[in-house]
Amino acid sequence: MSSPFPILTADEAAALIQDGQTLGVSGFTPAGAAKVVPRALAVRARAEHLAGRPFKVAIVSGASTGDSLDGELARADAISWRTPYQSNKSLRESINAGRTRFFDMHLSHLPQQVRSGFLGKMDWAVVEACEVTADGEIVLSTSVGASPTFLRCAEKVIIELNRFHSPNLRGFHDIYEPLDPPHRLPIPILRPTDRIGTHTVKIDPRKIACIVESNMADETGGFEPADDTTERIGRNVAEFIAGELRAGRIPKEFLPIQSGVGNIANAVLGGLGAHPDIPAFEMYSEVIQDSVIDLVRSGKVKFATGTSLTIAKDVLLKFYEDLEFFRSRILLRPQEITNNPEIVRRLGIITVNTAIEVDIFGNINSTHIMGTNLMNGIGGSGDFTRNAHISIFTCPSSAKGGKISTIVPLVSHMDHSEHSVQVVVTENGVADLRGKNPNERARLIIEKCAHPQFHDQLMHYFEMAKHGQTPQTLNRAFAMHEQFLLTGDMRDAVMI
Ligand code: COA
Repeated sequence: MSSPFPILTADEAAALIQDGQTLGVSGFTPAGAAKVVPRALAVRARAEHLAGRPFKVAIVSGASTGDSLDGELARADAISWRTPYQSNKSLRESINAGRTRFFDMHLSHLPQQVRSGFLGKMDWAVVEACEVTADGEIVLSTSVGASPTFLRCAEKVIIELNRFHSPNLRGFHDIYEPLDPPHRLPIPILRPTDRIGTHTVKIDPRKIACIVESNMADETGGFEPADDTTERIGRNVAEFIAGELRAGRIPKEFLPIQSGVGNIANAVLGGLGAHPDIPAFEMYSEVIQDSVIDLVRSGKVKFATGTSLTIAKDVLLKFYEDLEFFRSRILLRPQEITNNPEIVRRLGIITVNTAIEVDIFGNINSTHIMGTNLMNGIGGSGDFTRNAHISIFTCPSSAKGGKISTIVPLVSHMDHSEHSVQVVVTENGVADLRGKNPNERARLIIEKCAHPQFHDQLMHYFEMAKHGQTPQTLNRAFAMHEQFLLTGDMRDAVMI
């Protein structure tokens, strides 16, 4: 049957987009990200620049995207501003060099801020789908993110119809957009498995400017195999949670798990999966990654809901082969729902996220290297941490071959404060900060979590200031960071 919408090439679609416009793009991690139109747009931007004309667009996404989007556009110097999250090397360089204005946002906040007009007019939604009907019903692909809001709020829509994805994904999405204040109703999710919305995003078909056909896998990177450090972190988290269960601080029915992204998160899930005392559990999370798929297959994870299916190409192809097995076990929702504070608090989620650095009082830096350069962004870590039943942060105790201590006297940038952070875990041990004052926390974090080679420096810093509720010596608080910037090694830092 012929399409009721114009079918254009990626170049023709990119030619519709003008300098200075704002694009809401699909993608939450590389999963479900728009791919071919952004690539063509980068080519167009380079041509415009060569001709001496300006060409930059603003990019609003669900979260990070793939290299065809953030990478190509950043290398073409074609992104004026960007929100709410990224994890691309080229874009990171552009942001840290001041060529792209980036503002870091809690991911659950984004859709409402778009609807409220806080980010200005949205000219285009560029969204990947695996099915579009003549009356404007869109079946999204491997992520939902903020696409329902972009599709509804943008003036015009470009759909990338990606034939790589299974044509049978209809039913894997639960699309629900809350009303905005003062009309907001309670979001009726009482259990992770509850479905509250529709299978498709329905928009006015007259807004669909064109369809661009593609056939391209998500640009998802693989994971490093777990090493001794990440495995020990995973085991420590699992043993801590099993201990909470034994002590009755986690109910015997267990509670849903949220786990961050990356190698450590993968190892944590591996640790939970392998622990004999942890019962089969449900996940109410943001990203569903490779390890979750294995745990669903083995029955250790009974059900997983998230906003993206961020899995390697071979894992996704096998997932598509077994689609009917997963249909009742995996569900994708908008990020506004997966990360929603109301739901996180109601369900009592145990959250596990990764820190760049942690200070001895339990404040967390998730986003900045040496306080200055952006790494990725806060992502959903704040949405989950602040509202968790138990909030856990993990990180290796050292970085860069042991020259950096990730446990520091004072974080060089703060994303999560001591008020939200309950447990810190490194490969060395677990610091349970609940019910502890700042003095007790500092001792625990240094003793249980710090790398032994930084133990004395940290203890020395702590013991220098023996007064006040939170003992600090302000002119030495960044001695370790300053030393690293000077010599490339925190181990040389003198704390007095
Ligand atoms: N100082 C300097 N560099 C540090 C560092 C520190 N204290 N800690 C880590 N790094 C470096 C590592 O050496 C590594 O560098 P490389 O890429 O050059 O090898 C890099 O930072 C990433 O560290 P890694 O240990 O590989 O961690 P990761 O891939 O698990 O990522 C975060 C860790 C914090 C960057 C990542 O989890 C993140 O972006 N979190 C914020 C968003 C979030 O939590 N999302 C999930 C919510 S649902």
